[in-house]
Amino acid sequence: MTQSDITPTVLLTGPTRGIGRAMLHRLLTHPAQPRLVLLARDRGSLDEAVAAARAAGADARGILLDLADLDSVRSALEKVAALVRSGEVATIDAALLNAGGQFLDRRHVSAQGHELTFAINVVAQHAVLQGLVPLLSPTGHVVLAGSSTHRGKRQSFGLVPDPFWQEPAELAIPDDTPPGTFRAERERGGVAYATSKLALVTLSHPWATRLGSTGRRLNVYDPGLVAGTGLVRGMPAYMDWVWRNVMPAMAVLPGATTPRGTARHAVALALGERHRDRHDAYIEIGRETRAEAVTFDAGRQSRLWAWLQDATGTVGHPDIPMVDRELPEGDGGMPGESTHHPIGQR
Ligand SMILES: NC(=O)c1ccc[n+]([C@@H]2O[C@H](COP(=O)([O-])OP(=O)(O)OC[C@H]3O[C@@H](n4cnc5c(N)ncnc54)[C@H](OP(=O)(O)O)[C@@H]3O)[C@@H](O)[C@H]2O)c1
Repeated sequence: MTQSDITPTVLLTGPTRGIGRAMLHRLLTHPAQPRLVLLARDRGSLDEAVAAARAAGADARGILLDLADLDSVRSALEKVAALVRSGEVATIDAALLNAGGQFLDRRHVSAQGHELTFAINVVAQHAVLQGLVPLLSPTGHVVLAGSSTHRGKRQSFGLVPDPFWQEPAELAIPDDTPPGTFRAERERGGVAYATSKLALVTLSHPWATRLGSTGRRLNVYDPGLVAGTGLVRGMPAYMDWVWRNVMPAMAVLPGATTPRGTARHAVALALGERHRDRHDAYIEIGRETRAEAVTFDAGRQSRLWAWLQDATGTVGHPDIPMVDRELPEGDGGMPGESTHHPIGQR
């Protein structure tokens, strides 16, 4: 896509705060003047984001999406599909799947009963991808939200514990042990977050294979440490104060940055201004690195994919076209899987 002669259509999840809000602002000041499809869970915040985009002169649509509920994911994708089919919105050139969550324990559950960190950061992302793929332009590009936490505590400023890989069915089960100390609960919440990002990066590779076979691209963008966002909500007041008022000063350190700085790199990646030939790559604050070797483990990928196909298949979505139509014969997904099931096509 050249920015001068094409108006790209960009889909962004989580434009309401933190890094996503900075991405929205960057898109609004971008010379390509992209058309925007904004997805958020809160009606008031979504309306504000759409109003801000329109006030800046953008052609913007807003669609409600709660990643904690696969029915909401289905409904949102139906709405995006309807906009694309009616021609109101062109097929998606770039999808910035930024929205994600972190919690102070592992006790929250999604509408479908999955542990909420895993549900939002992995299950729902898979469901969004299932519905989105048929709506991508022929050169469409998907960017997933990675995190250095997938590498472990030492690589993420020591702020989040190491991930702990388990089979997907176990990762999806919320903690039902007797409540522990605040510290113990928070540790489990941190492990869940790091592990969800490890799972998302693991999942990115089979998705990249699928998209690559149709000429599309998928990359993971790691924003670096971006303190001051809403990511660590629910912390005790003093911790929240430090996160918002003291830790943003860490933006000068390697591996850390500001919402604005990271948004600039993410948008450049999404629109193909930078890393234009990259596919299945891991881009960290604008610099290509490499996802952890363990994310390329074929067994993990295969088991995660199979579990997610089952979990998201319960959503039910007859209207979203089968992505299989656009894939070469015989590309049914992960090894051992003969049929690909977009949401609802079981
Ligand atoms: N900040 C960091 O240091 C850092 C580092 C690495 C990766 N990341 C990743 O970057 C992304 C953005 O994080 P952030 O720091 O900007 O956090 P944030 O300020 O909390 O923003 C998260 C965004 O996701 C949305 N969201 C959360 N749960 C949702 C749900 N159930 N359904 C729909 N939208 C939902 C939020 O919407 P509401 O406004 O409605 O809450 C918000 O717009 C996340 O994927 C995060 O994991 C962040």
